[in-house]
Amino acid sequence: MNNTTSKKKLFIKTYGCQMNSYDTKRMEDILRPLGYESVDSYEDADMAILNTCHIREKATDKVFSDLGRIRPHKKAKEDKGEQMVLAVAGCVAQAEGDVILSRARYVDLVFGPQTYHELPEMIAKITGAYGQERIINTDFPVEEKFDHLPQENAVTGPTAFLSVQEGCDKFCSFCVVPYTRGSEYSRTVDGILSEAKRLVAAGVKDISLLGQNVNAFHGDGPDGKTWGLGRLIREMNEIDGLERIRYTTSHPCDMQDDLITAHRDCEKLMPYLHLPVQSGSDRILKAMNRKHTAQSYLDTLARFRDMRPDIALSSDFIIGFPGETDQDFEDTMRLVEQVGYSLAYSFKYSPRPGTPAANMQNLVREDVKDKRLHALQALLSSQAVAFNQSFIGKTVKVLFDGRQTKPGFLHGRTEYNQAIHVEAPDRLFGQIADVTVNSAGNTALHGSVAIQDDDLAA
Ligand code: SAH
Ligand code: SF4
Ligand code: F3S
Repeated sequence: MNNTTSKKKLFIKTYGCQMNSYDTKRMEDILRPLGYESVDSYEDADMAILNTCHIREKATDKVFSDLGRIRPHKKAKEDKGEQMVLAVAGCVAQAEGDVILSRARYVDLVFGPQTYHELPEMIAKITGAYGQERIINTDFPVEEKFDHLPQENAVTGPTAFLSVQEGCDKFCSFCVVPYTRGSEYSRTVDGILSEAKRLVAAGVKDISLLGQNVNAFHGDGPDGKTWGLGRLIREMNEIDGLERIRYTTSHPCDMQDDLITAHRDCEKLMPYLHLPVQSGSDRILKAMNRKHTAQSYLDTLARFRDMRPDIALSSDFIIGFPGETDQDFEDTMRLVEQVGYSLAYSFKYSPRPGTPAANMQNLVREDVKDKRLHALQALLSSQAVAFNQSFIGKTVKVLFDGRQTKPGFLHGRTEYNQAIHVEAPDRLFGQIADVTVNSAGNTALHGSVAIQDDDLAA
């Protein structure tokens, strides 16, 4: 029997942040040589992986309900004498792996974000002649992981994520990431550049550099020195065929001048910055252990605007952190008014087991949280509409990264990271083209491209 060539169906469901999306792609890259092909349904899968997120509440409940849905299909396969390997990966696996194994006896495999490069060995143990073993693998060999990922990335479109930094040493009092992803680790510059070049050679035009604290990046450079993110971006700016560079997510305390000035110097670095502030109240920021103030955050944004006046700004906010008063919330609203965001994300505070904030008193009532979240989202949405509508009648450069269900329409992104729906010929998929913006709402723009004669003939 030749296990490496027989085709097997692989289903992966991805929850959470972009880093999980990157990890999912890399798991597919690892499993492809073993004969696994990705499918959209778990029903007849030979392997099903839930790549989970632990950031807000009900994360574990969601995993158990998905596991419950998959279980009968696993049973059906077993009744036919076949096997479905059922695995839980990602941050819930890291945080609550033992709970999963004991509550869901039918789960075969639990592995954390830092051990997925060991998947072939783990699978061999489960499916081999001695099969039936159940495995939990939640170590933190992060350095090893990047050394062992395959030298091949399957590319599915013109955009790609590239993890450059993982883990977090900040310990914001509300956050599970330092526990689920481990401490900060930066990949080597050579490893990152060769992955970037492979992606570009396969057709990628837009790379988003990822890290939980991407601007804390400090990778070993080819010159024996430690490189920061600004230096890495300057080097990537020289890669032929790469058109757009982005990075996410940054922390206000790790902003180096070299990164800020890169926004002036590097034409491929997109005019968009996601810099979460979480709250506009210094009292709350302190309780969150954010180590910056509202004013120091505003000063940082001003430095970016000096370099790149048109830069689009984005943030995350947490509403209803323990002890948040009406005045604290007003401070957040004032900060938002001062900044003027193009797009931002806001969440109700959710206590996470094992984090310091989970033990805090003075919880904010749920109805108060709802009211505040509603007010903040209304303000952010009005800012997004104003930002997007300021483009009506203008021409923007769009990278077409998706096909719409309606034939003749493509989905794309502007340089400012806005989503845009465009009536456009299919030949533009994967390309950058000028688009005239016709209308705009809070989440997307609509536009049209100049049509050529051969498009009409097509
Ligand atoms: N590393 C990034 C983001 C990590 S998680 C950063 O430092 O900004 C993404 C967002 O989820 C956070 O920015 C925060 O707004 C939100 N978040 C994290 N923990 C949360 C919690 N316990 N409750 C509600 N929102 C939370
Ligand atoms: Fe979490 Fe704070 Fe680290 Fe971001 S910086 S991942 S919010 S602990
Ligand atoms: Fe979630 Fe883990 Fe990302 S907790 S947000 S998947 S780092």
